[in-house]
Amino acid sequence: MGGFELITAQSLIVSEKHGAVGVLRMNRPEALNALSHPLMDRMEEALKNFEADSAICAVVIAGSERAFAAGADISEMQGKTSAEMRADSHLSRWDKVSNFPKPTIAAISGYALGGGCELALACDLRVASETAVFGQPEISIGVIPGAGGTVRLSRLLGRALALEMVLTGRRISADEALSLGLVNRVVPVELFLDEAIKLAHQIAAMPPLAVAAAKKSTLHAMDSSLEDSLNFERNLFYDLFDTEDQKEGMRAFIQKRRPNFVGK
Ligand code: CAA
Repeated sequence: MGGFELITAQSLIVSEKHGAVGVLRMNRPEALNALSHPLMDRMEEALKNFEADSAICAVVIAGSERAFAAGADISEMQGKTSAEMRADSHLSRWDKVSNFPKPTIAAISGYALGGGCELALACDLRVASETAVFGQPEISIGVIPGAGGTVRLSRLLGRALALEMVLTGRRISADEALSLGLVNRVVPVELFLDEAIKLAHQIAAMPPLAVAAAKKSTLHAMDSSLEDSLNFERNLFYDLFDTEDQKEGMRAFIQKRRPNFVGK
């Protein structure tokens, strides 16, 4: 990939800016990127920075070649009581990823298990390497997915397959994930991050207010009635007619030239 600006290196999250694309790389190789409190604290901070940075238009969340993330940190949780777990807002971090206003792309290689699979599912798009493995093995350690696995998998894959995964812990390969619509594309392992960044750049080149509206409408539609969703979409469509980018986009089409979007 071309030049990029490194923001943090020696931490649990390596944060980089590749032009208009923010890249967060989980960096806890000794525990296969288990999603501990400190790691998710850093991820939340890095996401906040990218949200506040108007030059960033899309964000890629990646792990290493060996592991996207092998789940929430089991050693942190094992001695906890139900009340202690309930009092802890750790799992709401996954919702923050899912509600992040700019488009997010998970770049997944190796293990995406438990909370790691749920983190990938919380992103908008998923680019997988051929070695990616998805699964919700929580049942085999006495719990269930707690960061959206039963909810998002059943919406994406339907009840039978979601239940098979969460009841048996069966793992899904990259190719199977592609055929099921769990990931957007599968690429050779050496390309998974570049491909995710490339896809993010394609989105980042689009007018940002329209991108935000498209994401908002699509997420809203997941939780709302057909009629409500159609009204919601229509209103966002109308809103965009007060933006400079709508005028520029349509004018450029008529004038048969490339548009020059300004994000207003
Ligand atoms: N939490 C804490 N540590 C983890 C971890 C996790 N989820 N996954 C892996 N590690 C650690 C291992 O303990 C090991 O550490 P040590 O070297 O100090 O022993 C290191 O990472 C390497 O792991 P393995 O030696 O196990 O590597 P492997 O190649 O033999 O196996 C694996 C890889 C199949 C991913 C295996 O590590 C594994 O099964 N991990 C746990 C997967 C899991 O159950 N995830 C769900 C967690 S619960 C959850 O996520 C709840 C939720 O919904 C939010």
